Amino acid sequence: MREVKIVATGSYVPEKILTNDKLSEVIDTNDEWIKSRTGISKRRVSINENTSDIATKAAMDAIYKSDIKVEDLDLIIVGTATPDCYTPSTACIVQKNIGAVNATCFDISAACSGFIYAVNIACEFIKTGSAKKALVIGAEVLSKILDWNDRGTCVLFGDGAGAAILSSSDKSGIMAIYTGSDGSGENLLKCNAASLGINNNSLSIMLNKDKYEENNFLTMEGREIFKFAVRIIEESIKKLLEMSKLNMDDIDYIIPHQANLRIIDFVSRKLNIDKNKFFVNLQDYGNTSAASIPIALNEMSRKGLLKKGDRILMVGFGGGLTWGGAIVKW
Ligand code: COA
Repeated sequence: MREVKIVATGSYVPEKILTNDKLSEVIDTNDEWIKSRTGISKRRVSINENTSDIATKAAMDAIYKSDIKVEDLDLIIVGTATPDCYTPSTACIVQKNIGAVNATCFDISAACSGFIYAVNIACEFIKTGSAKKALVIGAEVLSKILDWNDRGTCVLFGDGAGAAILSSSDKSGIMAIYTGSDGSGENLLKCNAASLGINNNSLSIMLNKDKYEENNFLTMEGREIFKFAVRIIEESIKKLLEMSKLNMDDIDYIIPHQANLRIIDFVSRKLNIDKNKFFVNLQDYGNTSAASIPIALNEMSRKGLLKKGDRILMVGFGGGLTWGGAIVKW
């Protein structure tokens, strides 16, 4: 069996910044409520780029930083809950955009756990020799499926994309990885068949104070998701440490799914883990679902926070219900 390592990361977020104050102009909310309940100050929203557009930009960022030619990629997996359309897959559109003509391409649907799920699948392809170099992307334009009249959900999320290139290696980079699901929680975080085209972006409609179109938007049982999140992060951390035969002192950083600062604080207190071990950037981007972990990983790399040999524990959770985590040696 071959081992797998991450050779490059990339990310892209849309230019438009939507602050809590700006949101307060269009819905009944305020900066103090959002910050104190979630830690979020602002988020990015896409005005005219769809998921494949931002996924492509994140992919190119990772490819530029690697010494890999696009023709060498033999697998592209996009984790997304907000594809451009029902078919073709976002991964196929990214393939066309970047010219990765030798890749097999598909999307996977695991909501906010999508990146970890996609990395896990790519690892299996590489370990068994079915692929050598894989591009894994988490990308979301959540703004198109949010109900911008529902202050209980719309303040939480943002748009963005993150990418990682995985390659076979002699030494292990990905030390442990696992995923899990519980469909009995299907109704806790759900989006029925919403319109996926960017022209239907409900935020644009809201901001232009035009007619507000009916859509099947994202719905969420916030308190239940909160309880699930804190339980499953704890469980995932313990499981990953057990799988890798490491303990918390061996871990340099934890990248949790960037959903809510209160969830992270709760876990840090419960497990008695130094808060500084958790990388947090949700204040700038909100919850970008499948994109949150790779955006965070790329930001850490760009800021020079990661040294060779550092051990990073990533943990994701979301709709489905789904969850998963990985320990990566940098
Ligand atoms: N601005 C102002 N007030 C708001 C608001 C907003 N954006 N959203 C809700 N409120 C109000 C509610 O109407 C309610 O008012 P009431 O008491 O007069 O009825 C009050 O705030 C409390 O609402 P509640 O929904 O009970 O708040 P909460 O303390 O549970 O916090 C969340 C709500 C969403 C922040 C919290 O449940 C949470 O973080 N859940 C996890 C969500 C998550 O991470 N999802 C993604 C997972 S991948």
